[in-house]
Amino acid sequence: MNRTVSFTTLDRATQEDLEIIDDCFKDQVKSLKKRIIEALLGLRGNPMGYQIDRFEHSLQTATRALRDGCDDEMIVCALLHDLGDDLAPLNHGELAAAILRPYVSPENAWTVKHHGILQSKEYLHEMKVDKNELEKKLRNHPAFERTIIFCRRWDRVSFDPNYDSLPLSTFEPMLERIFSHKVNCLS
Ligand SMILES: [Fe+2]
Ligand SMILES: [Fe+2]
Repeated sequence: MNRTVSFTTLDRATQEDLEIIDDCFKDQVKSLKKRIIEALLGLRGNPMGYQIDRFEHSLQTATRALRDGCDDEMIVCALLHDLGDDLAPLNHGELAAAILRPYVSPENAWTVKHHGILQSKEYLHEMKVDKNELEKKLRNHPAFERTIIFCRRWDRVSFDPNYDSLPLSTFEPMLERIFSHKVNCLS
């Protein structure tokens, strides 16, 4: 049953109110996987000029990571790496990384955050970023090499309308495992 707090301003919250808020927050965290899937499905039908839409690109990227023998965490990162395309077109990697960060290793979160800016010279040129300067800055990070692999092997090549991507149902158990992990940070 839905319970509602009694206050209209937080400084009047009672202990019971705080328990209600806490329970709702926990439910919100528990049901994240469902909303992630809805957001992923929201990428359908927007090809952004490519031959396939962003949903198919996401499936294709994740399928390539899976077929390359990656673990669940990296496959989920591949599946969700462009989740920010709709709401954060100028920094979409940051949005996806923010969602994933509490559930994945710092290195994998770094990869998702930086995949866009390390992607291609053309893209960087458009964004008025000097690739060489940027690479110098990022090169020493422990996740730099894995991010280059992410871009080259799975992301950059996943715009193929004839690729046999696995269906979303293949990845749902992985999403379940990753998003039911103990949250490793809340920042
Ligand atoms: Fe991207
Ligand atoms: Fe991508």
